[in-house]
Parts: sequence; structure tokens; C-alpha cells
Amino acid sequence: MSVHVVILAAGKGTRMRSSRAKVLHEIAGLSLMEHVLRIAETLSPATTVVIVGHGADQVEQALAKRPGLVFALQEPQLGTGHALLQAESALQGQQGTVVLLSGDVPLLRPVTIGRVVQHHHDRGAAATVVTALVDDPAGYGRIVRTGGEISAIVEHRDASEQQCRINEINSGIYAFELGPLFEAVRQIGSGNAQNEYYLPDLVRMYRERGLGVETVLLDDPTEILGVNSRQELAELAAIMRTRRTEELMAAGVTVIDPATTWIGPDVTVGADTVIHPGVHLEGRTAIGSHVVIQPNVRIVDSTVADGVKINSFCLIVESQIGPGASVGPFAHLRPQSIVGQDAHIGNFVELKKTSMGRGSKANHLAYLGDATIGERVNVGAGTITCNYDGTAKHPTVIEDGAFIGSDSQLIAPVRVGKGAYVAAGSSITEDVPADSLAIARGRQVNKVGWAEKKRAKKP
Ligand code: UD1
Ligand code: CA
Repeated sequence: MSVHVVILAAGKGTRMRSSRAKVLHEIAGLSLMEHVLRIAETLSPATTVVIVGHGADQVEQALAKRPGLVFALQEPQLGTGHALLQAESALQGQQGTVVLLSGDVPLLRPVTIGRVVQHHHDRGAAATVVTALVDDPAGYGRIVRTGGEISAIVEHRDASEQQCRINEINSGIYAFELGPLFEAVRQIGSGNAQNEYYLPDLVRMYRERGLGVETVLLDDPTEILGVNSRQELAELAAIMRTRRTEELMAAGVTVIDPATTWIGPDVTVGADTVIHPGVHLEGRTAIGSHVVIQPNVRIVDSTVADGVKINSFCLIVESQIGPGASVGPFAHLRPQSIVGQDAHIGNFVELKKTSMGRGSKANHLAYLGDATIGERVNVGAGTITCNYDGTAKHPTVIEDGAFIGSDSQLIAPVRVGKGAYVAAGSSITEDVPADSLAIARGRQVNKVGWAEKKRAKKP
């Protein structure tokens, strides 16, 4: 039985007060639309139709890289029934079930929507409405039941005083059999408080025709929360954050303060890792086991092996850190940096496109860019690779066991051979042969008694 998904995303989102389409606002680093598409994908749909309207160009552009989406333009926007109707031509000649999702409802769990489709099929229903019991049903459509069975959905603005007291609400998520669907949707009228074509009117119409309408009541009403304002964007982000930290804690990760820990949906963390407050783990980051991440660290699209210690206040982007290494505090690893096993990157050290071999150390105040650094190298405080000449970037190579004295400049392209020493304060412009000492600085002159004479001259 094939499943198709239609995602409604044509609405204006006035309360966001944004020039960006509402469904492109982000939670946990992914747009609302991206979250909904991921939910949709778990159903392996034969067709996925996105109904666009307000900000259609923006939405289509943002999703251009996603294969297999069909966009249908709803212009003007005359309500949710009218919105679904725009998917008709994309689904022409198809059979099976249509699952309707909203582009601004990102917290629905894949298991839940799977359960809804299962229930819909098991009961042979023509339509299934996902409902929830909420404390404050204001604004939602109410589920009206007759003899226990759903008989209609009444929108808040059209509800009688008695209906307003119903706290079972319409989530706006449905499953429909394609067979009778579009013929019925075309007959929805707009005689209501908002002069809109209300999709929920299908429930009453189906009932009148004797078609089966089922409901699935959610255990967790937060799953159907939508975003209509920046405040709700923050509230839903907090719910998603809590879900993620709870999953990780259940899998053996210590999260000291879940309220200030932000871990993206695609991040993995191994057991017995300890995450301190204020840590952000983003993108496709993979953290190993027995890692300690101290407060206020941000890691993006990076791999951190087992047993690593990341000290406070580090920024790590598109980098790899080997087992047992330590980084920070206050280190900046820019893209394509590789820190080898048991290596140490200390405070105020910046790496860019640089690899540090096993057991090498740069413990204080260094800039290492476009550098290939071997094993057991010691990079002294204040070392700088001068990799940029104003036009092009040039490489620095430091071979195994070399020692770079403090406050040295390595003017690239340059190579320091195996086991060589660079004297502190050197400006190295030429390659240093293996096992040599390079000194490249002004020779010191001591003028004995000079200061004493200078003072004696003063009146
Ligand atoms: C809708 C339901 C209501 C339900 C609530 C759940 C209707 C008439 N009411 O109300 O029963 O409790 O959702 O959140 O359906 N959209 C379009 N084109 C349009 C209008 C809306 O694409 O012409 C999209 C919106 O972008 C949004 C979704 O449909 O993603 C829901 O529309 P919205 O206006 O938010 O409906 P509600 O009034 O919240
Ligand atoms: Ca809404």
C-alpha cells in the first residue's frame, strides 16, 4: 500500500515578523521544514508534495538540493482545504494513502506517525485524524464526538460556548485514502468565520456519506505543537533539546546541566562521556566514549575520539581529534585540522588546515596554519607559521621530534627536518636540515655601563 506525503507550507506566519518564510526558521540547526521532511522520510513515501505560497521562492530554493520533492503553488491562500487541493495534480493517477503534515510542526515522532498510518490501514478508514488532549485548547479546532465517534471538527472561531469547552483538539495531521479524497475536498465550502476552505470540514462530510473516520489520540501532546511566533520557536527548541539530552543520558552520557546543553539531532556521543554546562555540539559531530567536555565549548562537524579532554571555551570546526588528546582552554581549531593521538593543544592556540602528529604539543599561544607537524614535536609558546604572503597560502612542514623554540616565525614555504632545533625568537626563512640547530635572530650586544652613564648625564 503506497504512502504519499503532503506538507502544508503556504501560510504567512505573520506573527514571526520575519522576511524569511516561517518554515525556514531553524531549531537545533535545521529548518522547521527539514525536520518535517525527515519525519516524512520515515514513511518512505512514493510522492512528497510541498504546498508553497508565501515565500515560495525562498522555500523552493532552500530545498533545491533535496531530491524527489514536488512543489505545488497555492496562490492565493484560501485555507487548508484549498491548500491540499493544490496537491491533486501531483497525485493524479496514484493510489494509496496521503499523510498530511504541517511544515511548522516539527516535533512529531516518527514512531507516532508510523502508528497513525498503521491504525488507519488496520481500520480500513477513509480518514484518520490525529488528536490530543490539551489544557488550553484556545485557537485549535475541537473534536466533536457523537456516541464516542468523531462526527465533526469545529474551528475555535466557529465553536459554540459548549464546544469551546472541549479540550480534545485537531492536530492538523491526518491520513486520507486517495480514493474519495479530492472529489470531497472540492466540495468543501467557505461559509465560516474566516471565509476559508477548511480541510477539517471533510470529517463531517465523510460521516454524512458513511465513510470511516478514525482518530488517534497522542500520549504526548507536545508532539503536535506548531511554531507561530519567535517565542514558540524558542519553546519548541527547548523541548527538542530536552528530548536529545534525555536520549543521550539514557544511553550512558553524563549531561551535567541539560538546560544549557545543546546537542544537534545528528550528533553522536559515546557512553561515559561527561558534558559540562554551556556545551554546543552541532552538525555531524561524533564524540567518543570517556570524553570530558568542559563548560562553554562549541564543536561543529567534528570527530572527537575516545578519552579526549576538551577544556573550557574552545571552538572546534570541521576537525578531528585523536584518542587521548587534550585541547584548550581557549583553543580554536579551524576547518581541516587534525590533532593526533595524545597530542596537546593548549591555551590560545589556533590551528587551520594543520595536522599535529601523535604526542606533539603546542601548549601556549601559537598560530599554526597549512602546517604538517610530525610526531613528538614541541611547538614553543608564541610560534607562528607565516603561511600567507598577501596573495597565496604556503605550507610548513615540521618533521618528527623537532623542537621549535618560543616566539619563532616559520616563514612558509619552509621545512624543519627530523629532530632539528629552532632557537627561540628565530625568523626561519630557509629549510632546516635534520638534527641541526637553526638560529635566525639578531646577535645580542651588551654595552656594559651604558645605563649608568645615561643616568649620570641627567641634570
Ligand atoms: C488548523 C486546523 C485546526 C487545527 C490546527 C492545528 C484548519 C481550518 N484548522 O488551524 O483544526 O487545530 O490547524 O494546528 O485547518 N496553510 C496553507 N495554506 C493555507 C492555509 C494554511 O498552506 O491557505 C498551512 C499553514 O502554513 C500551516 C497549516 O496549513 O502550516 C495550518 O494552517 P493554520 O493557518 O496554522 O491553521 P490553524 O488556524 O492553526
Ligand atoms: Ca497553526
